[in-house]
Amino acid sequence: MWKMMNHRAWLLFLLLLYVVSSVWGYPFKPPLDLDVTPRTTVLFKGLLGCRRFRGLTLNYSLLLLEEDADLLYVGARGALFALQASDVSSSLAQTIDWEASDDQMQQCWNKGKDNQTECFNHIRFLQRFNSTHLYTCGTHAFSPLCAYIDGREFKISSVFEEGREKCPYDPSKGYTGLLIDQQMYTASQYEFRSFPDIRRNSPNPILKTEEAPTQWLQEADFVGSALVRESLSSSAGDDDKIYFFFTEKSQELSPYFSHSRVARVARVCKRDRGGLLTLQKKWTSFLKARLVCSLPDYEFHFNVLRSVFFLEGSSSQDSAFYGIFGLEWKNVKASAICQYSVSDIQWAFDGPYMESKEDSNSKWTQYTGKVPEPRPGSCITDQHRAKGINSSINLPDDVLHFVRRHPLMYRQILPQGQRPLLFRRNVDYTKIAVHTVTGLDGQIYHILFIGTDEGWLQRAVKVEDHLHIIEELQLFEEPQPVDSIVISKKQMSVYVGSPTSVVQLPLSTCTRYSSCFDCVMARDPFCAWDGLECVDITSHNSSLYVGLLF
Ligand SMILES: *[C@@H]1O[C@H](CO)[C@@H](O)[C@H](O)[C@H]1NC(C)=O
Ligand SMILES: *[C@@H]1O[C@H](CO)[C@@H](O)[C@H](O)[C@H]1NC(C)=O
Ligand SMILES: *[C@@H]1O[C@H](CO)[C@@H](O)[C@H](O)[C@H]1NC(C)=O
Ligand SMILES: *[C@@H]1O[C@H](CO)[C@@H](O)[C@H](O)[C@H]1NC(C)=O
Ligand SMILES: *[C@@H]1O[C@H](CO)[C@@H](O)[C@H](O)[C@H]1NC(C)=O
Repeated sequence: MWKMMNHRAWLLFLLLLYVVSSVWGYPFKPPLDLDVTPRTTVLFKGLLGCRRFRGLTLNYSLLLLEEDADLLYVGARGALFALQASDVSSSLAQTIDWEASDDQMQQCWNKGKDNQTECFNHIRFLQRFNSTHLYTCGTHAFSPLCAYIDGREFKISSVFEEGREKCPYDPSKGYTGLLIDQQMYTASQYEFRSFPDIRRNSPNPILKTEEAPTQWLQEADFVGSALVRESLSSSAGDDDKIYFFFTEKSQELSPYFSHSRVARVARVCKRDRGGLLTLQKKWTSFLKARLVCSLPDYEFHFNVLRSVFFLEGSSSQDSAFYGIFGLEWKNVKASAICQYSVSDIQWAFDGPYMESKEDSNSKWTQYTGKVPEPRPGSCITDQHRAKGINSSINLPDDVLHFVRRHPLMYRQILPQGQRPLLFRRNVDYTKIAVHTVTGLDGQIYHILFIGTDEGWLQRAVKVEDHLHIIEELQLFEEPQPVDSIVISKKQMSVYVGSPTSVVQLPLSTCTRYSSCFDCVMARDPFCAWDGLECVDITSHNSSLYVGLLF
């Protein structure tokens, strides 16, 4: 019957739906406080098309997808796995056992660490090094080690390397790292007593953040990092930049006394080589700025950054960062999601600096004095080269002195739409991944996969500046945090790592909707009604369908 209705009848029908739902106020208009409820809840027993991998160990925290090879690499406790991306439960899975020795574990226990959770080799880093090898680091019972992995044979191919400069000792310490052109960039508070640090570890020159007289990072807790290839679209010969995301102790004067911590983004330039004398072996391009994610009308300031996802567009200008934020009060469950554009972040780094009059790091205010040339903290561009400054080594001393004392920017970075996309009470989100899909209307939609601390996965679509939560899925029988989320367009799958297993799910399950009404009202850009059933548009012809209309 649906198929026979002509186009105009359809439009009338959908208009009617729209009017009815506007009266209900849902789902077309998010409630005023943005506290959106998922439209569908799918319990563990109702999951469709779900595949699982579970080895003989725990903590499947780290996922690395290589779509071309159809492999999903997994870093766990004392082991690494190479799973088939098409089916993680396949028996073709390969394993590398890499646990700390009994001796090492005993030493760890002697240090007062917990031998039930901490004194193992928790894999914290796993990335591609070159076309044949991967590089990995593990905490190794509080004595970090790193090694190369031969990707083809899936075995450790080198002697173990000292990992203390690259990997934290503590398996639960905030940490992020990237391998870019065989150079390793990491950020963490590596040891209990050390200051947090952003490092370029290898090969030389090693670069670090400054600790005195101005400490650039204040008890920073890192959650993510991303390379933004800003050189590609630059007419000024700009450099690529690496962005780091973290929460740290607040340094600026704040009207809100309760806020001792703030969310930040810092950046460094890829070709930074440090200074010659001042800032020798230190970044000359380190700058940081505050990320704001607030509902000012409600006095809600989400100051703790829990996770970020970089959605890479065709250029840096249409790339975006998504962040999951929480409140500082640990006993209050609440989460917000904010989105930031790369250009808004650049705008903050191009703006005025902050200064601290005394060296006590408490009262930072806007710096209004003279700024030396070339602009402190900027990457080496054509403008520098025209003055004979080919590298950060050639930067004048007054510029380096300024950089050393002024790591913090005055401008704060507001999210797109000036407020969170989503705010939820009673939920702690842990991880997020985003991908884009072209809907039937030709528009590009951002689909968000959001994990919770209790093992739920929510799927949401961004419409203008709001999120509509299409569904929430209970991934595990036992509540446990979602530790990582990876999306494969090729496999049309989403992979989730958790303490007990790796789960693979289809990107969407349109067949769950049995009526045209449900299919359309789900507002799932993947799904459309073909006259008989709710189908996935990516695997069918689309001309006849009734899909989402916003
Ligand atoms: C590893 O899993 C155990 C068991 O669920 C959990 O208690 C522990 O916090 C996890 N450790 C890390 C580093 O994720
Ligand atoms: C932890 O250490 C205690 C004391 O040495 C020992 O009895 C226990 O078996 C150890 N547990 C594990 C899992 O190694
Ligand atoms: C990749 O790096 C490893 C470790 O340094 C090295 O042994 C291997 O030859 C390299 N492969 C290629 C193709 O360069
Ligand atoms: C910078 O590079 C230019 C061109 O390669 C060269 O002529 C100049 O001497 C270099 N300047 C310094 C300070 O190295
Ligand atoms: C989709 O439609 C085109 C043109 O109408 C047709 O040639 C093609 O075979 C169709 N594909 C499928 C999978 O039905």
